[in-house]
Amino acid sequence: MFSKFQSLPSYFGGKRKLVKYIFKPIKKTEGVFIDAFLGGGSVSLYAKAKGYKVIANDIAFRSVIIGRALISNNSVKLETEDLARLFLKAKHDGFIRKNYCPKVFTSKIADFLDNAIVNARAVENETKRHLLLHLLIKFILSCRQFGKFTHTRDTLDLEARKWEWPLRSKSHAPKNLRMIQNPMMTLEKLKDEINHGVFDNHQDNEVHQKDVFDFLKKVTGDVAYFDPPYPGSSSYEVEYGILDNILAGKKLDNKPSSFSNKDADEFLERMFESAKHIPQWIISLGQNKEDVGVKPDKLLAMVQKHRKAEVQMLDHKWSVSNAGGRGQSDNIEYMIVTI
Ligand SMILES: C[S@@+](CC[C@H](N)C(=O)[O-])C[C@H]1O[C@@H](n2cnc3c(N)ncnc32)[C@H](O)[C@@H]1O
Repeated sequence: MFSKFQSLPSYFGGKRKLVKYIFKPIKKTEGVFIDAFLGGGSVSLYAKAKGYKVIANDIAFRSVIIGRALISNNSVKLETEDLARLFLKAKHDGFIRKNYCPKVFTSKIADFLDNAIVNARAVENETKRHLLLHLLIKFILSCRQFGKFTHTRDTLDLEARKWEWPLRSKSHAPKNLRMIQNPMMTLEKLKDEINHGVFDNHQDNEVHQKDVFDFLKKVTGDVAYFDPPYPGSSSYEVEYGILDNILAGKKLDNKPSSFSNKDADEFLERMFESAKHIPQWIISLGQNKEDVGVKPDKLLAMVQKHRKAEVQMLDHKWSVSNAGGRGQSDNIEYMIVTI
């Protein structure tokens, strides 16, 4: 696997394992690569390493942080002094402790995060600020089992100082230990992982935070990659609702994206209509169950209304978020490639 991926957080629906298939059918080996749904950043980071000018977009601030830390940033790295800054005593309202302790975080980690988020937000240099927020996203997800917010039993036990269950297995123990250790131990390691992903590809890469339709109206480039939320699957706003609230410092309405709707066809049609000026399209989609979401033939027909295209079925095991979940056999993953 591409070693710079270690700089990214684990992200639901991330495409680390698929990048070699995504880039193979792209006709232009240089020029502008548009990533309309940046997510956890894996496709943009890979495109950046290949030397494309990357123009990335996502509606969510959580993704834009990742992008500004690693895609549009060609040189700024994190230093140990930057980490020390997170521990300075800051004025805060205890939002995380009040709302997410002890189910999501132990009090030790909630207190650290309440303080650290305020300090990170106050950093004047924009790139450094996004790097520190990115570090905190990685930290938060690295404390949570499967990078999700749903498993609460371990944290409740840790807070009650019952160690036996949380430290029961090789897979659970490392994450749970982070909930009781000094955060600096984890932050130093994550800092090095992040710095490994900071490099200069000699392009002026851009990251935008827009609804995809507004983004497509203005952007131009050689190839666009579309990786929208899969219709009918769990929405990003729900999966990452707690993370989004923490980054905002308040409870948001976390309304699911229209692309997560069971009948997202209309949005996909509109998206292709808005992307007519971009010469090549690569679209990723999948189904968790046969009768949910958009079937490959249906998406192919939508794309063929605009240009010649073909389907490529992928044998993909969801890389990160499904690690502890149910069996994989119902999942299909495919790409539509314009030719
Ligand atoms: C499948 S993920 C992208 C994963 C990414 N390719 C990766 O490898 O990590 C889909 C992303 O679409 C974003 N999104 C959802 N609705 C959107 C919209 N209307 N406009 C732009 N982005 C949107 C979500 O925030 C989410 O990050």
